[in-house]
Amino acid sequence: MSAQHPVTPVTDPDDVSSNSSDNPSFGEVVQRRISRRDTLLGGTAAAAAFLIGPAVGGAAAATPAAAPARPGGGRGRPGGRPLLGFTPVSTSDADAFVVPDGYRAQVLIPWGTPVRPDGPAWRKDAGNTAEEQAQQVGMNHDGMHFFPLGHGREGNRRGLLVLNHEYIDQELLFPDGPAEMTREKVAKALAAHGVSVVEIERRADGSWETVNSRLARRVTGDTPVKFSGPVRADHPELRAEGQPRGTLNNCSHGVTPWGTYLACEENWNSYFGTEDESWEPTPAQARYGVAAAGGGYDWHLADPRFDLAANPGEINRFGWIVEIDPKKPDSTPVKRTALGRFKHEGCTVTESRGRVVAYSGDDQDGDYIYKFVGSGNWRLQRALGRSPLDHGTLYVASFKDDGKGEWLPLTHGRGPLTRANGWRDQADVLLRTREAADAVGATKMDRPEWITINPRNNDVYCTLTNGSGWDAAVNPRNPNPYGHIVRWTEKRRDHTSTTFTWDIFVLAGDPAYDDQVDLDETNIFGSPDGVWFDNDGRLWIQTDISNSSQHLADKGYDNIGNNQMLAADPETGEIRRFLTGPRGSEITGATASPDQRTLFVNVQHPGEATVHWGEPSPENPRAVSNWPDFDPEGRPRSATVAITRVDGGVIGA
Ligand code: FEO
Ligand code: CA
Ligand code: CA
Ligand code: CA
Repeated sequence: MSAQHPVTPVTDPDDVSSNSSDNPSFGEVVQRRISRRDTLLGGTAAAAAFLIGPAVGGAAAATPAAAPARPGGGRGRPGGRPLLGFTPVSTSDADAFVVPDGYRAQVLIPWGTPVRPDGPAWRKDAGNTAEEQAQQVGMNHDGMHFFPLGHGREGNRRGLLVLNHEYIDQELLFPDGPAEMTREKVAKALAAHGVSVVEIERRADGSWETVNSRLARRVTGDTPVKFSGPVRADHPELRAEGQPRGTLNNCSHGVTPWGTYLACEENWNSYFGTEDESWEPTPAQARYGVAAAGGGYDWHLADPRFDLAANPGEINRFGWIVEIDPKKPDSTPVKRTALGRFKHEGCTVTESRGRVVAYSGDDQDGDYIYKFVGSGNWRLQRALGRSPLDHGTLYVASFKDDGKGEWLPLTHGRGPLTRANGWRDQADVLLRTREAADAVGATKMDRPEWITINPRNNDVYCTLTNGSGWDAAVNPRNPNPYGHIVRWTEKRRDHTSTTFTWDIFVLAGDPAYDDQVDLDETNIFGSPDGVWFDNDGRLWIQTDISNSSQHLADKGYDNIGNNQMLAADPETGEIRRFLTGPRGSEITGATASPDQRTLFVNVQHPGEATVHWGEPSPENPRAVSNWPDFDPEGRPRSATVAITRVDGGVIGA
């Protein structure tokens, strides 16, 4: 899938659209909305200001008349202080993790750390076996949540860190790199995927350590799983060799009100392939980007489980939301099929009027934003022994050109999703969620990534990391290499509503290349991916600039530096750069101790192949980065970083 960047060693397959439907794109919608406002307000600048609204990035942005006056800070803030209280860090090209003055960063649980301290030790030559890897923290840390253990203050010093391992870098995972795929290498790769549960404790000096815990576990690409909801494990399309096992490409995540963790299956199509020349993708498979060549893992060459022709039902066991109870180490993960099947970036769960609501972006260029609304009171359902995630309505978003929006139900028998149109039942709608969303007329988006909800007013924020722009003269970026953050307000601020209003919170990018961008050296960023609100209402933004663009002038990315994390005030629009990551990495995953005095974030794929820095190899795995160990014989490793303040204060304040 390197058509867009033929000379680069790495590409983002998500940048290639598989959506050939005629649905309007977000860019077209915004274009229409801007054009209309342009006429009303008399000029492009005024139009852009309206579109961006009163809370745009950069202090000087927005229409002065619309900007809320907030002397002494925003409403409801502790002591009326400004939400952001740290000195921004500079952009960076260093192989380092850089935090503001007054902060410190501790590397925790890098790839290969035993999930219990008495487990098998990490081997820096990548010589750990599959069996050892299955007892160690996986590769490429991503979405993450801290579940406090114990009551009150105890929960600030002890808890479970639960995190996803999105994918693997075969160059770094195996001593011989990706050369010649074998069954043992597939087994190790599967063991490095999935989810880690580790118990951590804070020491007296404020640092954190893993402890031997009965709750510590790994869920991998080989762990037995169950299916629940309208698509059951015995569905004819899920029949395959052996019982259902494993979860793969777990990107962002979710947390339910009842304390479980949701891992989300994103680019699952890339693990499957075939050499059978008679194999052809079905329309649904084509829509999901399933291809004979696979995504470069080549597992199908060594393990028939991943051969599309030999074991065709296996791939239908992927593309779901997976519920894991971290406090029940013997529990079986459950794939909750009512939430649909697509390239789930994450699953942001909230509740409204007693019902559970879950938002999820489908991260591919030209794909959609979804939400699931439970059908009844979730507490009552749980009391009756039913999962609130098994019963409800899945919707897909339509962003109208007048700043309004609508949630379109994906319910069998409604609208075009009828038997007469070839939709057999609700299971069929869910197995082919993308095609169902095409049929109802969802709005194409520039790669929807994470979604987060402002705890102060229920506004919902979604990162659109970058994309082809879908004729988005408005952005006015076509293509849109920097991405933006869209924000919406559900009617009556009720997440179960089926209509909403929307605006754009910030256009990312570099004003040196794009004068619509209202950012400066303290906060230029591109390709927003992770977004997360802390309990005080700070909006944290993490970036994932592809290594096919990072630092490159011809991509407009030479001033932005390594991937980073920023904090924003959603009311004033102020944004400050909080940290920068090492070479080749993205920053992803954010969670805090309940007292917000430790912030945990992940550094994913340090040292991966980049156009700018070069490529790692079995001979020199350190060619791009040697973070965090800086061992002259070691290799770069994804890791969680625990960030604290020297004075023990709240992070970001
Ligand atoms: Fe896994 Fe869409 O980032
Ligand atoms: Ca991501
Ligand atoms: Ca990524
Ligand atoms: Ca991304």
